[in-house]
Amino acid sequence: MLLQVQPKDYFADGYQVLWDYHQCFLYYISELKHVERRFYQQTIASDTNYQQKIQQMVMFLEDAMFQHHKDEELCLFPYLKQYSYLVDGMLAVLENDHRDLEQIWQELAAFLSSPSTIGENERFIKVSQTYRRWLEQHIARENDNFLPEVRSILLPEQWYEIGKKMEGLRHYQGIV
Ligand SMILES: [Fe+2]
Ligand SMILES: [Fe+2]
Repeated sequence: MLLQVQPKDYFADGYQVLWDYHQCFLYYISELKHVERRFYQQTIASDTNYQQKIQQMVMFLEDAMFQHHKDEELCLFPYLKQYSYLVDGMLAVLENDHRDLEQIWQELAAFLSSPSTIGENERFIKVSQTYRRWLEQHIARENDNFLPEVRSILLPEQWYEIGKKMEGLRHYQGIV
C-alpha cells in the first residue's frame, strides 16, 4: 500500500496531499486490473487470501475516495471560485466527475465487498472497467491540466492553509 488514508507528514502542503492521493489511486487502478485478470482466470472464489486483499482494497478506496473529494471540494475549491471563467469551468467539470465516480463506485463496491462471488457476474467487468476509465480520466484532468493551472494562482502560504484545513476535516471526523 503506497499511502495511508491520512498522509500526516504532508498536511503542510495541500498541493502535495492531492498529488499523493492521485498516485495512490493510480496504484489501485492497476490493482483493480489485476482483479479483472483473476476474474477471467476464475481464480478468486478459491483464494481466500486474495479475497481478503480485495476487501482491504475496497475499505481503503471507500475511505480515501470520499475523503479526497472532500479535500478538493471543501478545502481547495473555495479558494479558486470566481478566479476566472476558465477555472470556474474546470471546477464544475471536476465536481461532476466526482458525483459520477461516487455513483459507479457504489456498484463496484458492492461487488468487491463480496469477493467470493465476484466471478459469478459478468457485469463486474463492465463496472470495474468503467470505474477505472473514469478515474484515470479524472486524475489525468487534474494532474495534467487543473493542478498545473491553479498551482501558481495560490501562494505557498495558501497551500499551507489548505493542507491544514484537510487535516482539520480529519480531526472533525475523528480520523486523526
Ligand atoms: Fe483529485
Ligand atoms: Fe477530483
